[in-house]
Amino acid sequence: MSVRVLLTVLTIGLQLACAHADDQGTAYDPDRFFRTQIQPILETRCYKCHSEEHGAEGGLTLDSRKGWQTGGELGPAVSPSDLKNSPLIQAVRYLDSDTAMPPKKKLQPIEIALLETWVLLGAPDPR
Ligand code: HEC
Repeated sequence: MSVRVLLTVLTIGLQLACAHADDQGTAYDPDRFFRTQIQPILETRCYKCHSEEHGAEGGLTLDSRKGWQTGGELGPAVSPSDLKNSPLIQAVRYLDSDTAMPPKKKLQPIEIALLETWVLLGAPDPR
């Protein structure tokens, strides 16, 4: 194989590899981020006390966007991009025992970090 042919083959190979990487890539998709990283946490850790189906403790449901936007007794549970003014974040950080959520067992650090990331990204929620 001549050097020229080899180079051409290599170049095409590289282009294909890059196109592939773009397809699969790490491009941020807000709806997908919510569905794959956030919704499962809410479903497994919060819905049993904060959903239409199981009840709205503190007046709060988390199984719809409207639920956290309206919020409960404290007002909106999430202020997009604002951790400090998001009662949901204050609650999962377990700052004080009265407002700590979920009440019995603190979330894993990765779950808290994902919820914080979600709020910082503007709280995308396609529901
Ligand atoms: C075992 C039931 C239970 C679970 C599970 C639970 N909560 Fe709560 N939550 C409550 C109760 C009860 C209240 C009402 C305040 C209180 O009594 O502490 C409340 C209140 C809240 C509030 C304050 C609402 C307001 O406006 O007053 C937030 C925010 C909250 N929960 C977030 C969460 C999040 C986020 C999760 C999941 C990570 C969660 N909770 C899981 C029972 C629960």
